[in-house]
Amino acid sequence: MALRNKKQPKSNNPGRKLIASIAPKSPISEQFRTIRTNIQFSSIDHEIRTIMVTSSGPGEGKSTTASNLAVTFAQLGKKVLLVDADLRKPTAHHTFGVNNLFGFTSVLTRQRSLDKTVVETEEQNLYLLTSGPIPPNPAELLSSKSMEQFIEEAKEIYDYILLDTPPLLAVADPQIIANQVDGTVFVVYSGKTEIDQAKKAKELLQNVKSKLLGVVLNNKQIQKGDYYYYYGAK
Ligand SMILES: Nc1ncnc2c1ncn2[C@@H]1O[C@H](COP(=O)(O)OP(=O)(O)O)[C@@H](O)[C@H]1O
Ligand SMILES: [Mg+2]
Repeated sequence: MALRNKKQPKSNNPGRKLIASIAPKSPISEQFRTIRTNIQFSSIDHEIRTIMVTSSGPGEGKSTTASNLAVTFAQLGKKVLLVDADLRKPTAHHTFGVNNLFGFTSVLTRQRSLDKTVVETEEQNLYLLTSGPIPPNPAELLSSKSMEQFIEEAKEIYDYILLDTPPLLAVADPQIIANQVDGTVFVVYSGKTEIDQAKKAKELLQNVKSKLLGVVLNNKQIQKGDYYYYYGAK
Protein backbone atom coordinates (compact mmCIF):
# COMPACT_ATOMS: atom_id res chain seq x y z
CA MET A 1 0.00 0.00 0.00
CA ALA A 2 1.57 3.27 -1.05
CA LEU A 3 1.32 6.50 0.89
CA ARG A 4 0.28 9.91 -0.22
CA ASN A 5 2.04 12.11 2.30
CA LYS A 6 4.09 14.50 0.22
CA LYS A 7 6.46 15.11 3.11
CA GLN A 8 7.72 11.53 2.85
CA PRO A 9 10.46 10.93 0.28
CA LYS A 10 9.21 8.29 -2.12
CA SER A 11 10.33 4.74 -1.57
CA ASN A 12 10.95 2.29 -4.41
CA ASN A 13 8.96 -0.29 -2.52
CA PRO A 14 5.36 -0.39 -3.73
CA GLY A 15 4.23 -1.96 -0.44
CA ARG A 16 2.22 -5.08 0.27
CA LYS A 17 -1.45 -5.55 -0.32
CA LEU A 18 -3.58 -5.79 2.79
CA ILE A 19 -6.62 -7.98 2.39
CA ALA A 20 -8.83 -5.83 4.62
CA SER A 21 -8.10 -2.96 2.24
CA ILE A 22 -8.23 -4.62 -1.18
CA ALA A 23 -10.96 -7.18 -0.48
CA PRO A 24 -13.13 -5.86 2.35
CA LYS A 25 -15.93 -8.31 1.54
CA SER A 26 -13.74 -11.43 1.62
CA PRO A 27 -14.22 -14.00 4.42
CA ILE A 28 -10.85 -13.06 5.94
CA SER A 29 -11.77 -9.36 6.12
CA GLU A 30 -15.06 -10.43 7.68
CA GLN A 31 -13.03 -12.25 10.36
CA PHE A 32 -11.02 -9.10 11.05
CA ARG A 33 -14.29 -7.22 11.50
CA THR A 34 -15.41 -9.89 13.97
CA ILE A 35 -12.24 -9.33 15.98
CA ARG A 36 -12.87 -5.58 15.83
CA THR A 37 -16.43 -6.06 17.07
CA ASN A 38 -15.21 -8.27 19.91
CA ILE A 39 -12.74 -5.60 20.95
CA GLN A 40 -15.48 -2.98 20.87
CA PHE A 41 -17.64 -5.17 23.10
CA SER A 42 -14.72 -5.59 25.52
CA SER A 43 -14.89 -1.83 25.95
CA ILE A 44 -18.05 -1.84 28.06
CA ASP A 45 -16.37 -1.62 31.48
CA HIS A 46 -13.17 0.00 30.42
CA GLU A 47 -12.52 2.00 27.28
CA ILE A 48 -10.21 0.12 24.92
CA ARG A 49 -8.34 2.45 22.59
CA THR A 50 -4.73 1.33 22.79
CA ILE A 51 -4.26 -2.22 21.57
CA MET A 52 -1.11 -4.22 21.05
CA VAL A 53 -0.74 -7.29 18.88
CA THR A 54 1.73 -9.98 19.87
CA SER A 55 2.45 -13.73 19.69
CA SER A 56 4.84 -16.19 21.27
CA GLY A 57 7.34 -16.47 18.42
CA PRO A 58 8.44 -14.91 15.13
CA GLY A 59 6.61 -15.22 11.82
CA GLU A 60 3.23 -16.02 13.33
CA GLY A 61 1.32 -13.14 11.76
CA LYS A 62 1.57 -10.30 14.29
CA SER A 63 2.31 -7.62 11.72
CA THR A 64 -0.23 -8.97 9.25
CA THR A 65 -2.90 -9.01 11.96
CA ALA A 66 -1.98 -5.58 13.31
CA SER A 67 -2.10 -3.95 9.85
CA ASN A 68 -5.36 -5.54 8.78
CA LEU A 69 -6.98 -4.82 12.11
CA ALA A 70 -5.86 -1.20 11.84
CA VAL A 71 -7.46 -0.97 8.37
CA THR A 72 -10.64 -2.52 9.73
CA PHE A 73 -10.88 0.03 12.56
CA ALA A 74 -10.19 2.86 10.09
CA GLN A 75 -13.07 1.60 7.94
CA LEU A 76 -15.38 2.44 10.84
CA GLY A 77 -14.54 6.06 10.18
CA LYS A 78 -12.36 6.20 13.31
CA LYS A 79 -8.99 7.88 13.25
CA VAL A 80 -6.43 5.12 13.68
CA LEU A 81 -2.68 5.12 14.30
CA LEU A 82 -0.70 1.97 13.53
CA VAL A 83 2.62 1.98 15.40
CA ASP A 84 5.48 -0.32 14.45
CA ALA A 85 6.66 -1.05 17.98
CA ASP A 86 8.59 -4.14 16.87
CA LEU A 87 11.97 -2.50 17.35
CA ARG A 88 13.68 -5.85 16.80
CA LYS A 89 12.27 -6.67 13.37
CA PRO A 90 10.21 -3.77 12.05
CA THR A 91 8.21 -4.39 8.87
CA ALA A 92 5.48 -1.72 8.60
CA HIS A 93 7.64 0.49 6.36
CA HIS A 94 7.90 -2.42 3.90
CA THR A 95 4.19 -3.14 4.12
CA PHE A 96 3.26 0.45 3.38
CA GLY A 97 6.18 1.15 1.05
CA VAL A 98 7.75 4.10 2.88
CA ASN A 99 11.18 4.91 4.19
CA ASN A 100 12.04 4.44 7.83
CA LEU A 101 14.45 7.29 8.44
CA PHE A 102 12.29 8.61 11.25
CA GLY A 103 9.58 6.94 13.25
CA PHE A 104 8.49 5.76 16.68
CA THR A 105 12.04 5.81 18.11
CA SER A 106 12.55 9.38 16.84
CA VAL A 107 9.44 10.42 18.80
CA LEU A 108 10.49 8.51 21.93
CA THR A 109 13.94 10.08 21.87
CA ARG A 110 12.32 13.48 21.23
CA GLN A 111 14.17 14.05 18.00
CA ARG A 112 10.89 14.57 16.14
CA SER A 113 7.39 15.57 17.07
CA LEU A 114 4.62 13.00 16.63
CA ASP A 115 2.69 15.01 14.04
CA LYS A 116 5.77 15.50 11.87
CA THR A 117 6.65 11.82 11.97
CA VAL A 118 3.31 10.14 11.36
CA VAL A 119 2.45 9.50 7.71
CA GLU A 120 -0.95 9.32 6.12
CA THR A 121 -1.79 6.05 4.31
CA GLU A 122 -3.96 5.47 1.27
CA GLU A 123 -6.58 4.01 3.55
CA GLN A 124 -8.77 6.85 4.74
CA ASN A 125 -8.39 7.52 8.50
CA LEU A 126 -5.35 5.25 8.81
CA TYR A 127 -2.06 6.82 9.87
CA LEU A 128 1.28 5.10 10.27
CA LEU A 129 4.24 5.52 12.59
CA THR A 130 7.10 3.37 11.31
CA SER A 131 9.64 2.05 13.83
CA GLY A 132 12.36 4.60 13.10
CA PRO A 133 16.05 3.74 13.54
CA ILE A 134 16.64 0.71 15.74
CA PRO A 135 18.12 1.79 19.08
CA PRO A 136 20.64 -0.27 21.06
CA ASN A 137 18.27 -0.29 24.05
CA PRO A 138 14.66 -0.87 22.87
CA ALA A 139 13.40 -2.10 26.26
CA GLU A 140 14.78 0.94 28.05
CA LEU A 141 13.20 3.28 25.52
CA LEU A 142 9.83 1.54 25.84
CA SER A 143 9.84 1.83 29.63
CA SER A 144 10.77 5.51 29.57
CA LYS A 145 8.61 8.43 30.60
CA SER A 146 8.44 9.52 26.98
CA MET A 147 6.65 6.27 26.08
CA GLU A 148 3.93 7.21 28.58
CA GLN A 149 3.78 10.69 27.12
CA PHE A 150 3.63 9.30 23.59
CA ILE A 151 0.58 7.19 24.47
CA GLU A 152 -1.13 10.17 26.09
CA GLU A 153 -0.45 12.42 23.13
CA ALA A 154 -1.53 9.80 20.58
CA LYS A 155 -4.80 9.28 22.49
CA GLU A 156 -5.58 12.96 22.14
CA ILE A 157 -5.28 12.76 18.36
CA TYR A 158 -6.42 9.23 17.43
CA ASP A 159 -9.45 7.14 18.35
CA TYR A 160 -7.52 3.88 18.22
CA ILE A 161 -3.81 3.16 18.50
CA LEU A 162 -2.61 -0.28 17.41
CA LEU A 163 0.91 -1.38 18.27
CA ASP A 164 2.72 -4.18 16.47
CA THR A 165 5.26 -5.79 18.83
CA PRO A 166 8.04 -8.43 18.88
CA PRO A 167 7.45 -12.02 20.07
CA LEU A 168 6.70 -12.41 23.76
CA LEU A 169 9.08 -15.30 24.30
CA ALA A 170 12.00 -13.51 22.64
CA VAL A 171 12.28 -10.18 24.41
CA ALA A 172 10.77 -8.16 27.26
CA ASP A 173 9.41 -5.41 24.99
CA PRO A 174 5.85 -6.77 24.58
CA GLN A 175 5.44 -7.16 28.34
CA ILE A 176 6.64 -3.61 28.83
CA ILE A 177 4.18 -2.34 26.22
CA ALA A 178 1.38 -4.52 27.61
CA ASN A 179 1.71 -2.61 30.84
CA GLN A 180 0.90 0.64 29.09
CA VAL A 181 -1.92 -0.29 26.74
CA ASP A 182 -5.58 -1.13 27.33
CA GLY A 183 -5.40 -4.66 25.94
CA THR A 184 -3.63 -7.31 23.91
CA VAL A 185 -4.55 -9.36 20.86
CA PHE A 186 -2.64 -12.63 20.83
CA VAL A 187 -1.89 -14.35 17.52
CA VAL A 188 -1.52 -18.12 17.25
CA TYR A 189 -0.33 -19.62 13.96
CA SER A 190 -2.27 -22.79 13.27
CA GLY A 191 0.10 -25.75 12.89
CA LYS A 192 3.15 -23.72 13.92
CA THR A 193 2.71 -22.21 17.37
CA GLU A 194 3.48 -24.85 20.02
CA ILE A 195 0.82 -25.16 22.73
CA ASP A 196 3.45 -24.92 25.48
CA GLN A 197 4.83 -21.74 23.98
CA ALA A 198 1.37 -20.20 23.69
CA LYS A 199 0.71 -21.07 27.36
CA LYS A 200 4.03 -19.58 28.45
CA ALA A 201 3.29 -16.42 26.47
CA LYS A 202 -0.15 -16.17 28.05
CA GLU A 203 1.45 -16.45 31.51
CA LEU A 204 3.83 -13.61 30.66
CA LEU A 205 0.85 -11.45 29.71
CA GLN A 206 -0.96 -12.42 32.91
CA ASN A 207 2.13 -11.48 34.93
CA VAL A 208 1.81 -7.91 33.73
CA LYS A 209 -1.97 -8.01 34.21
CA SER A 210 -2.63 -7.37 30.56
CA LYS A 211 -6.23 -7.59 29.41
CA LEU A 212 -6.37 -10.33 26.77
CA LEU A 213 -8.83 -9.05 24.18
CA GLY A 214 -8.78 -12.14 22.05
CA VAL A 215 -6.78 -14.81 20.31
CA VAL A 216 -6.44 -14.74 16.55
CA LEU A 217 -6.02 -18.17 15.02
CA ASN A 218 -3.95 -17.41 11.96
CA ASN A 219 -3.66 -19.67 8.91
CA LYS A 220 -6.56 -21.87 9.91
CA GLN A 221 -7.67 -23.66 6.75
CA ILE A 222 -11.21 -22.73 5.82
CA GLN A 223 -13.26 -25.62 4.44
CA LYS A 224 -15.42 -24.92 1.41
CA GLY A 225 -18.55 -26.01 3.23
CA ASP A 226 -17.93 -23.73 6.21
CA TYR A 227 -20.72 -21.28 6.78
CA TYR A 228 -18.49 -18.25 6.58
CA TYR A 229 -16.94 -19.17 3.27
CA TYR A 230 -17.93 -16.40 0.85
CA TYR A 231 -20.26 -14.92 3.39
CA GLY A 232 -21.68 -11.86 1.71
CA ALA A 233 -21.13 -11.00 -1.91
CA LYS A 234 -17.66 -10.61 -3.43
N1 LIG B 1 -2.45 -16.70 7.12
C1 LIG B 1 -1.40 -16.51 6.37
N2 LIG B 1 -1.29 -17.08 5.16
C2 LIG B 1 -0.21 -16.89 4.38
N3 LIG B 1 0.84 -16.13 4.73
C3 LIG B 1 0.80 -15.51 5.92
C4 LIG B 1 -0.31 -15.66 6.80
N4 LIG B 1 -0.06 -14.92 7.92
C5 LIG B 1 1.15 -14.35 7.74
N5 LIG B 1 1.66 -14.69 6.54
C6 LIG B 1 2.97 -14.30 6.00
O1 LIG B 1 3.95 -14.82 6.88
C7 LIG B 1 5.02 -13.88 7.04
C8 LIG B 1 5.14 -13.52 8.53
O2 LIG B 1 3.98 -12.80 8.91
P1 LIG B 1 4.10 -11.53 9.84
O3 LIG B 1 2.75 -10.96 9.98
O4 LIG B 1 5.17 -10.61 9.34
O5 LIG B 1 4.56 -12.25 11.19
P2 LIG B 1 5.22 -11.65 12.51
O6 LIG B 1 4.93 -10.19 12.53
O7 LIG B 1 4.54 -12.40 13.62
O8 LIG B 1 6.68 -11.98 12.45
C9 LIG B 1 4.68 -12.69 6.17
O9 LIG B 1 5.34 -12.82 4.95
C10 LIG B 1 3.19 -12.80 5.98
O10 LIG B 1 2.78 -12.22 4.75
MG1 LIG C 1 6.22 -8.59 12.63
